[in-house]
This record gives sequence, structure tokens and C-alpha cells, in this order.
Amino acid sequence: MSWARCFVVSAASVGAGAAEPLIVTLDGPAGVGKSTLAARLAGELGIAFLDTGAMFRAAAYVLGEGAWDWKQGLLQEKLGEFEFTLFGSGRDTMLLLDGKPLPAEIRGETAGRWASQLAVVPSVRAYMKMAQIFLGRTTSLVAEGRDMGTVVFPGARRKFFLDADPDERARRRCRQLEEQGKPADFAAIAASIRQRDDQDRNRSIAPLKPAPDAVVVDTTHLSEDEVLRKVLELVRAA
Ligand code: DC
Repeated sequence: MSWARCFVVSAASVGAGAAEPLIVTLDGPAGVGKSTLAARLAGELGIAFLDTGAMFRAAAYVLGEGAWDWKQGLLQEKLGEFEFTLFGSGRDTMLLLDGKPLPAEIRGETAGRWASQLAVVPSVRAYMKMAQIFLGRTTSLVAEGRDMGTVVFPGARRKFFLDADPDERARRRCRQLEEQGKPADFAAIAASIRQRDDQDRNRSIAPLKPAPDAVVVDTTHLSEDEVLRKVLELVRAA
């Protein structure tokens, strides 16, 4: 089956006068703050950001629980019907699935766990990699995920790997939920983060790890602003 029609309209630009798209990669474990940083960094650079976790979450949510056990052919067929669209830049970057905003439910812990399970399946990884490479050919991106620097964009201009203590990541997630007026169970969130770390780091294809040429930033004791400043300085120097 061909993946050719699975993708992707991008109205985000290469960047005025640029010969080829600028790609910056941000990888790291669950809850480390990649999405917030990616949106802010993309805003500073005037380019789009690509939340690849959202692509896995949306696929997992739409296909439903247990899709990771389906036959490869069926999964390929279903993925081939998806159409992701990316447009805009900075915080206003929009990622659509089949012309609609991604459902709010994909942000929950359940969708995160399903995404992590679906993400070990070879045909799912192949589809996502192809779609992401396709996008990066025409569009300048801050691409965030688990394997952006190692597998999808090995030639990126700058690569970062963000890390933070798992308990600190769980605390951040709780704060985020509380700010949204939602209940936050620290023990459950910390357990879910550890379980996903384990699954993402130990899978055989595209495991979570820093690329050899990535700058590793431990954000445990850094504010969002401090991380942004550090990363931006390094991108501008590249
Ligand atoms: O970044 P996130 O928590 O939204 O990602 C959800 C899951 O998707 C994550 O646990 C593993 C998977 N994922 C992946 O395997 N590769 C990526 N590039 C991004 C996410």
C-alpha cells in the first residue's frame, strides 16, 4: 500500500529567502515541557512547530484501544486514510486531522498511554516517519517528539534533548491540570510517566534517546524562560 495520499498540506513557509527549510529538533520524555518550548521557540524563529506526540495520540484515539494488536495490513489501511494538515506558525501553528482540530481528549493520560503502545508498531512508526519527513521537506519546523533527532531529521540544523527528574515532570503535569481546574492525582500521574518512559526508552524501533550530536538540557531546576533563552541562543549561533 502506498502512503502517498496520507499527507500533508502545509501553509507554513520555508522562511523568507531561505534556500531550504530550517529544522530544529526537540526530543525528550513525557511531561518534560517539549510542547510549550517548541511553540515558544517556533514563535521566536517565525516558523511552525510540529507536535509529533499529538500525531501518535490522535491516531491512537481515533483508532481506539487495542489498535496496536491489529494486523499490520489493517493498520496501514486505516492510517492511509488519515490526512494531517499543518499551517500557521509559532503558537498559532495548527495541526488538523481530516480538516478538523485534534480532539481535546487526546491530551489525557489514557490517550498518552495508548499512543505509547501504538508507537511500538513498525507500520505506525513507518507511516509517522514518512509523514514527518514529507512535512520537513517544504516547511521550516521546530519538530518535537522522541525520535526527531535520531531517526526522522538526522540532518537537523540543531538538536536538543530535554530531560528532567520524573517526579518533577509529574509535579509540572499536576500544576498544569490544577490550572485548568481538573483533578490531579500525583501518584497516578507519576506512575503513568514512569511506565511511558520505560516503554518509550526500551522499544526496539526508534527508542527515546539523545542523538549523538544533540545538546542535552536538564530542565529539572530551570524555568521555562531559562530553557527558552538557552535553546534560542544555541539555535541562533548555529
Ligand atoms: O509527547 P507525547 O507525550 O504527546 O507523546 C505520546 C506518545 O507518543 C509517547 O509516549 C510515545 C509516542 N511518540 C513517539 O513514539 N514518537 C514521537 N516522535 C512522539 C511521540
